[in-house]
Amino acid sequence: MNTLKRSLLLLATSLFLSGCSDSPADLIACARLGLQGFRPIAEDRAQRFQGKVQEVTARCRGGDRAVAGRAVPWIDWQNYWGAGDSSTRGAESLFGFRHLSANGRGIDGALLDLEYSRIELIRFNLFDNAGTYRDYVLGKGGVDGPALKTWPEMRLPSGHPQYSAVGGDGAQLCQGELIRARTLTGICNDIRNPLMGSINTPFSRNVTFDATFPDLGKNDLARNRHGDRLGLLQPDPQVISRRLFTREQSEPDKCRDGRGLPDQSADAHCDYLKAPFFNVLAAFWIQFMTHDWFSHLEEGRNAPDMMAVGCATQRVGNVETPLTPDQVAKLGCRPDDRMDRTFLAEDGDPATFTRDGKPYLTRAYRTTRNTVTAWWDASQIYGYDATSRRRVKRDPADPARLLLMTVGERKGAGERLGYLPLLEAGDPMNPQWAGQEATALPDNWSIGMSFFHNLFAREHNLFVDAFRKQAATTPDADSGLRNPARPDAPIAYKDVGPDELFEAGRLVVSAEIAKIHTTEWTPQLLYDEPLYVGMNGNWHGLVRHYPGLEQALDKVVVGTYGKSARAKDATQWYSVFASGPGIFGLGSHRYADAPPFAHFDPKQKDIWSLANPDHVNGGVNHFGSPFNFPEEFVTVYRLHALVPDLIEYREWDGDPNAIRNQIAVVDTSRGLATAAMRQRGLANWAVSMGRQRLGLLTLQNSPLFLQNLDMPRLGSATGKIDVVALDLIRDRERGVPRFNEFRRQYGLRQLTSFDDFIDPKLPAGSPERQRQEKIVGTLREIYGQHRCDAGKVITAAQLNADGSRINDCLGRPNGTMVDNIEDVDTVVGWQAEFARPHGFAISETQFHVFILNASRRLFSDRFFTSSFRPEFYTNLGVRWVTDNGPDGPVMEKKSSNGHDDPVSPLKRVLLRTMPELGPELAQVANAFDPWARDRGAYYTLTWKARPGAEADPAFREAKPR
Ligand code: HEM
Repeated sequence: MNTLKRSLLLLATSLFLSGCSDSPADLIACARLGLQGFRPIAEDRAQRFQGKVQEVTARCRGGDRAVAGRAVPWIDWQNYWGAGDSSTRGAESLFGFRHLSANGRGIDGALLDLEYSRIELIRFNLFDNAGTYRDYVLGKGGVDGPALKTWPEMRLPSGHPQYSAVGGDGAQLCQGELIRARTLTGICNDIRNPLMGSINTPFSRNVTFDATFPDLGKNDLARNRHGDRLGLLQPDPQVISRRLFTREQSEPDKCRDGRGLPDQSADAHCDYLKAPFFNVLAAFWIQFMTHDWFSHLEEGRNAPDMMAVGCATQRVGNVETPLTPDQVAKLGCRPDDRMDRTFLAEDGDPATFTRDGKPYLTRAYRTTRNTVTAWWDASQIYGYDATSRRRVKRDPADPARLLLMTVGERKGAGERLGYLPLLEAGDPMNPQWAGQEATALPDNWSIGMSFFHNLFAREHNLFVDAFRKQAATTPDADSGLRNPARPDAPIAYKDVGPDELFEAGRLVVSAEIAKIHTTEWTPQLLYDEPLYVGMNGNWHGLVRHYPGLEQALDKVVVGTYGKSARAKDATQWYSVFASGPGIFGLGSHRYADAPPFAHFDPKQKDIWSLANPDHVNGGVNHFGSPFNFPEEFVTVYRLHALVPDLIEYREWDGDPNAIRNQIAVVDTSRGLATAAMRQRGLANWAVSMGRQRLGLLTLQNSPLFLQNLDMPRLGSATGKIDVVALDLIRDRERGVPRFNEFRRQYGLRQLTSFDDFIDPKLPAGSPERQRQEKIVGTLREIYGQHRCDAGKVITAAQLNADGSRINDCLGRPNGTMVDNIEDVDTVVGWQAEFARPHGFAISETQFHVFILNASRRLFSDRFFTSSFRPEFYTNLGVRWVTDNGPDGPVMEKKSSNGHDDPVSPLKRVLLRTMPELGPELAQVANAFDPWARDRGAYYTLTWKARPGAEADPAFREAKPR
């Protein structure tokens, strides 16, 4: 036995003898775990971690509960000590060592599992559709594919207006004006890959190309997996929508398909299942985000040809059978709905290549383009092409500001900051946008979009005003900004021009948005301790309180692993060590080469230079695959179930506990949103959406109004569309694998029958279990069953536990009747995941898509890594993003879930733009937690009023409906 093993055994024995509150069995498990060491990272996709640990690991990190959880397909860390509410907490400390205690082992173990998942996702789930995949697999010039940093496909093409500026047909490098700020179309974020992330570049994939477009039956695995059961309209998407997504109503006359009652009467009532720890602002926040990240549409339109969208057949006795008129009427669907088809970029057969005799596709069977910039650059506000930029109005009195105008004479200090102007007749406009606020991306406008666009326009102007104020006080002082043409010449405050300031404002607002999303929205979406630590780690790093160590790790990550030609260094070790300093700001400081201990010297000189392209760009890592979002990412953001049908309208200056109206969301969409915003004011909508719970992401909980949305632009017989059915159709058009293969591809455990969806923790006979069992019955009716054939191999993504290939029988004897679990649409599948980690508003499948892509959109963006510098953001801008505002760090008076946190970034934005909300926000720790909820102790999910809000009728409901 070597020394390390002996010491671990000694440590475990002393723990065992110490009489702590852990059970002896747990501690023996910890000792055995220590002896085994770390699990190796899978070399092959078939050996992936799958979020499942060995029995000893489960016992050490979560005792009996975690051991019991190993039997089900869902990830194990959710059952570790401390990963839920206070009932899951064990011992806090052992001989003063927090990390050795039960809670320490649980939380650290969860973080370790998450890091394993991220490493494997980076390793096995990157598939670029832009032509670079061959190099990724084969490598190039002695560099492993995953360590490649530049690609010919990411050069600007010869017809591009900036072709010459970046070097034409020579080596391309962005410089000068092109690197100063975020560009309109997204080029030159990576200065050596000018095209990456810009508009109209292809969506990538996170699944092997041969697993895309299963409906086309292009290979044996797809045919074996699905037989002839799949089609664009098969199983029928409108039937699925009506049977599996519709919100049941206890008082349909008071809901009227989501339209509420006349005069917005407060007596209206639409039932929906609610998430007690997440508010309606959070629902619209994520719509606001998706409008920044991706779109398949051009100016609100899809391809010119129209298609039928279902309400034609249903499965009866495992056979697709036409619907009768009676059945159509009973379901409430519409056979005459029509929709425009999705745009496709390429749909011919892809080229192939081989490696070690194995064939590979160079891209998916069909590809699509992202019509907005993929960067987190607030393009929905500031624009992404010349057309959208024409809708962005600047203040003629100071073009650094956005144009905002005072509307009405409402009370409140925020009112004088104003509201966005309306689109004018001369603006580029789809007719359905008439009457809306002028903004770059006006599609699917709602009161929520109006809210966040006005909010951040105000914030932009507040930044400009603060800068102007500073310029008036210290006109000759260095603003921090630099012109790359004269990198060493300071630019004084008084010399910063309006365009420069406008662009700095855009950088600041985008970084603030990214920070809100990473450290405030996501930890509330995934409301538990591992995710609080993990998400804050992504931004600030896990060692933020040890600046010397942070610097040293930053240097190792950027200087060593970031430069390596070896795949493992450039991906796995880069990711592991980046969690130390955090992703945000990686490479934004450089120190002269010196022995390792010098990194701990706080007096070192930062030698980062704007003149050095390696410093400007050196903090990014794309892991060998150019950055864009994958189609699979779009799928997991189909979050329409979050939206309630009615908004409980309140007023901040009356009694915010009173619900004055129930306003249909559909009456606050498109131009009506703008009218509602101007009539009632930003602060009242803030209180209303801040207090109300959003819809739980689960089946039978989608908004009725979205199933019946008016779409006059289509000119169809009904003039309506079922957006929920469309969610399924779009995924099928874009070739997203069905749910079970989707999970296998992401390294998650497959399901073997519809029954696996039922949350195993629920007691038999409980109302929630009965609800789930009923839904499982409906899934079986809709998707059906078949007699399985064990000779048909269905996947290459995973193997059975005994190493054999997974076949059509999913572990059952040949010829058994099995559920068509392979056919379940991904959106249906993740909404049917009833078992979830504590506080998760989304499912674990969605979450795994986020682990990869949420990290990547930070890792790949130089403005969040090496170019997070005053040379671009200004000194004020860097402080603003770091401290959540101009006036230094501000701490909350009370700790929350055991953490002393700064006042959250969105709360600071709300308080700056609407100071009148001070009293309402006084007790709010996270702006996405319902504002009147008592946050209680350690990640409680209970729906209880905070002091002062007891009279709020939202807390008086008998049932959680
Ligand atoms: C009033 C609220 C909303 C309305 C009226 C609305 C409407 C729509 C419509 C009509 C589409 C289909 C576009 C097409 O493929 O032709 C769509 C797509 C989509 N919606 Fe919503 N939506 C709303 C809220 C939300 C929310 C809260 C989310 C949350 C993330 C969301 C996420 C998406 C996504 C991801 C797509 C696919 C976009 C794409 O294909 O590029 N929507 N929505």
